[in-house]
Amino acid sequence: MSGATGGQSDITTSEVVTLELPDAESTRALGATLAGELRAGDLVILTGDLGAGKTTLTQGIGATLHVRGQVASPTFIVAREHPPLPRADGTSGPGLVHVDAYRLGGLSELDALDLDSSLADTVTVVEWGRGLAEALADDRLEIDLERPRGAPLFDPGVAAEEDPEAGTRKATIRAVGQRWAGVDLGALLS
Ligand SMILES: Nc1ncnc2c1ncn2[C@@H]1O[C@H](COP(=O)(O)OP(=O)(O)OP(=O)(O)O)[C@@H](O)[C@H]1O
Ligand SMILES: [Mg+2]
Repeated sequence: MSGATGGQSDITTSEVVTLELPDAESTRALGATLAGELRAGDLVILTGDLGAGKTTLTQGIGATLHVRGQVASPTFIVAREHPPLPRADGTSGPGLVHVDAYRLGGLSELDALDLDSSLADTVTVVEWGRGLAEALADDRLEIDLERPRGAPLFDPGVAAEEDPEAGTRKATIRAVGQRWAGVDLGALLS
C-alpha cells in the first residue's frame, strides 16, 4: 500500500491506496471488502482497459451487498439496477446500480439515465466512468485497474497468444471527498 493524503480543494480529501491483484478472485475479493464500507449514496468510478477486471470487481461488490440478479457485463444495457435482497437476519442494505458508460456519448447521455434519482438510495458503480461520472457526486471512490501487457515473445517469429485471463492487475484506489475522510482505506485493504 502507498498512502497519500492531501486536499484537492478545501472540501475534498483524498487517500490513495495501490494493490496488486494476482487473479480474478483477488479482484472480486477487493470489491467484496470495499462493499463492506459502502452505503446508500456512494459512487464508485471504475476505470481500466477492456478486460481489466471492472465487472469482476463489481461482482464482488454485489456479492457483499447481497443484491438480486447476476452482476454481468451490461453489453446492450447501459445501466442495470440490482435491488437488495434480505439478509439472513432480515435486514437489507442498499441496492446496486451498475452502469457501463463505454458507449455513452457524453454528459447529456449520462444525465438521460437519471442516475441522480437513484443515487441517494443505492450504491452506484460506473464502469468507464472517468471524465464523466465525477459530475454525479463530490464524494466518490475512483478505482483504476491496470492490466500489464502480455509477456514478451519467447520466439519473435511466433505470434503470442493473448490470454484475457493472464496477468496480475494493479488497482489504484482513490477516495475523494468528505464522505471518505474518516475511512482508513489503507487499513481496510491491508
Ligand atoms: N486480477 C486478475 N487477474 C487475472 N484475470 C483477471 C483478473 N481480474 C479479472 N480477470 C479476468 O479478466 C477477464 C475480464 O474481466 P472483466 O470482464 O471483469 O473486465 P472488464 O474490465 O469489466 O472488461 P470490459 O472493459 O469489457 O467491461 C475475466 O475473464 C476475469 O475473470
Ligand atoms: Mg465490464
